[in-house]
Amino acid sequence: MPAPFSKSGCATFLAPMQDISDAPFMAIFADFGSPDFYVAEYFRIHEYYEFEASIMRAIMSRPCGRPVCAQFIGEDEFYMAKAAAQLGKYPEITMLDLNLGCPAPKIYRKNVGGGLLRNPDKIKSLMRALRSEWGGCLSVKMRLGFESALEFPKLLDAVLENPPDFITVHARTVRQLYRGAPDYKYIAYAVKHSDIPIIANGDIVSCGRVREVLDSTSCAGVMCGRQAVRNPWIFRQIKEMLEGSDIFRPTLGDVRLYIDRLSRNILAKGGVLHADSVLKKFLNFVGLGVDPRGEFLYCMRRARGMSELLKVCDAFLLRDPSIPFADTPYPGLCSRPNHEAICQ
Ligand SMILES: Cc1cc2nc3c(=O)[nH]c(=O)nc-3n(C[C@H](O)[C@H](O)[C@H](O)COP(=O)(O)O)c2cc1C
Repeated sequence: MPAPFSKSGCATFLAPMQDISDAPFMAIFADFGSPDFYVAEYFRIHEYYEFEASIMRAIMSRPCGRPVCAQFIGEDEFYMAKAAAQLGKYPEITMLDLNLGCPAPKIYRKNVGGGLLRNPDKIKSLMRALRSEWGGCLSVKMRLGFESALEFPKLLDAVLENPPDFITVHARTVRQLYRGAPDYKYIAYAVKHSDIPIIANGDIVSCGRVREVLDSTSCAGVMCGRQAVRNPWIFRQIKEMLEGSDIFRPTLGDVRLYIDRLSRNILAKGGVLHADSVLKKFLNFVGLGVDPRGEFLYCMRRARGMSELLKVCDAFLLRDPSIPFADTPYPGLCSRPNHEAICQ
């Protein structure tokens, strides 16, 4: 099935993020501005695979009536094909993605996710297996290479041997993890060397960045992950930019309301012992746009318990709620929780 968007527009995607992109998180975008498509956390496909209920719920939730793409991570052709056939029985599930990018060592050491980028022949046979059993839209989400971006042309050829319907390229290598500047020129290369739509991913931080990437690569759209956690209005802003209308500029007061939504989601799940730690996971991204010196990040990381944490949010965000929320992350701040707020 061809991609449900064209090569010449700008389709928008919420990136898959483990322990973040669940149904309640996706639902937030219905109020703040929905992307065209969502991608769910991955299903691990192996001999004893199961489709986890929470991921299934996210896929079936269809926020704003938009499709949620399922994602597989695995390396066994037989079980991948079997799982694809099983997923195909759900008429609501129309999109399936193969993860070729996860950089966590405990994942890539099993030769799945980003680990598959070390084995182009395996990529070819996995794509053949998925194609044989999956009749819906099939995509691949890949990085530029394992060690080096110089691997990209060969990896792209391997992916294109049994072509997916579109490819998302996170313009970093596995070794880079989430650091260093994405190299978008490889996205331009993929656009030039394939007939299918290419989606750009990696530090799509703002409308300005979207414009830059569209102009320099001619990609068919963008996928936002951490940037959408930081700024859930990003898809609305992209749409407004593309339409040429005024772009919504959230204030710190708006951000405080977003944090309320996040807290309610966390508390509604019940059984969350450390709700404050779960909220901090989100605030590590939100905080990148609150103040340039990283004082919010510093204080919120030290808050103990939910009520103390929300008091810190009030202190920083409601002191003057009309202050604009930064459009892009303040330079030098760090989202990694075990770091001081300011990156060395
Ligand atoms: C917490 C977290 C979890 C992620 N989980 C997944 C995943 O399950 N599947 C996947 O393909 N990528 C996953 N990614 C990668 C993102 O989808 C995305 O490719 C990456 O963060 C780069 O985009 P960004 O700069 O907009 O965040 C994850 C990233 C983060 C930060």
